[in-house]
Amino acid sequence: MELIQQIKRKAASCNRRIVLPEGTEPRTIQAADQIIAEGIAQITLIGNPAEIEKLAKEYSLKHIQQARIVDPMNVPDADRYIEMMVALRGKKGVTPEIAAQQLRDPLYLGAVMVKAGDVDGEVAGARNYTSDVLRPALQYVKTKPGVSIVSGAFLMDIPDRSFGDNGFMIFADCAVTPNPTASELAEIAVMTARTARAIGGIEPRVAMLSFSTKGSAKNEMTEKVVEATALAQKMAPDLLIDGELQSDAATVPEVARQKAPNSPVAGRANVLVFPSLEVGNIVYKLVQRMAHAEAVGPILQGMASPVNDLSRGCSVSDIVGLVAITVCQTEIK
Ligand code: ACO
Repeated sequence: MELIQQIKRKAASCNRRIVLPEGTEPRTIQAADQIIAEGIAQITLIGNPAEIEKLAKEYSLKHIQQARIVDPMNVPDADRYIEMMVALRGKKGVTPEIAAQQLRDPLYLGAVMVKAGDVDGEVAGARNYTSDVLRPALQYVKTKPGVSIVSGAFLMDIPDRSFGDNGFMIFADCAVTPNPTASELAEIAVMTARTARAIGGIEPRVAMLSFSTKGSAKNEMTEKVVEATALAQKMAPDLLIDGELQSDAATVPEVARQKAPNSPVAGRANVLVFPSLEVGNIVYKLVQRMAHAEAVGPILQGMASPVNDLSRGCSVSDIVGLVAITVCQTEIK
């Protein structure tokens, strides 16, 4: 995907620090070596130093000695981190003992390092479930000011170039929030538009999807999308956002001319916002498989500092790509 090459070039100019909590995971350590070689980011690996050294030898890695290694069983900044963790989550029952125990979990340690500002972002998930990667980040990194929820976007590169911007589109939420309210859906739309600009380098045209186009059907599900559209337009008057639209009205010009002739987005949407996680997750996977689209993500949006989750089936190049995206996300204000 040419887009990933562009993202890597942009990342290399940012000089950011990324932590990889799964430092003893074979694909992760090979990706770390490549990231350092290509100058995409400075890398901190979390893991047992002897195990990391053994893997580095096994894969003949040449650049990994430039990575910082943090042993979760012997964290140099533990006292500072524990103090911060108790200050942040004492009210939620985090005592110094609980904080010390959490720090031994690389996923918590990674999130805490991000929160402390010792690194700029985190990528994990090659060997852990999405929920286990997300929970420490949601608890400690939290959302950006003014943002109440995190969501997950996918960059879709569709071989049929008639869709979106020359085949390039962004879909959300496909990964995090099961059943967003109207105001959460509005936030997802605005955040995804910002991701489209910052990561995709495109000017977003956002369609709020439903099974109704401009009042063709009416019930509580379509009303949620109507309300979300109005809220999103109010939140970001500078953006092109329209709804409620069916997916054909959003993406096919002939259908748009019939169903929504006055819409500035219909027929040419490049950002699709789904009414629920169920729809978003099902649709992105179907488009990926049936239309042979390349799907890059999920790119988690709305976190105070970027934290991204890999699929457990990821390749070394997927990890390199997601680290580059994470670096670029540090530029989103
Ligand atoms: N945005 C912001 N904060 C959130 C969100 C959210 N979407 N969800 C939970 N939180 C916060 C909570 O407010 C809470 O904060 P607090 O402890 O300070 O009060 C903290 O995170 C923990 O919340 P819980 O509800 O205890 O966390 P939970 O165990 O329910 O996990 C999670 C939250 C992981 C996001 C869950 O909703 C989830 O598993 N979502 C689906 C993920 C998934 O499986 N996606 C599909 C696979 S991904 C793919 O196919 C690409």
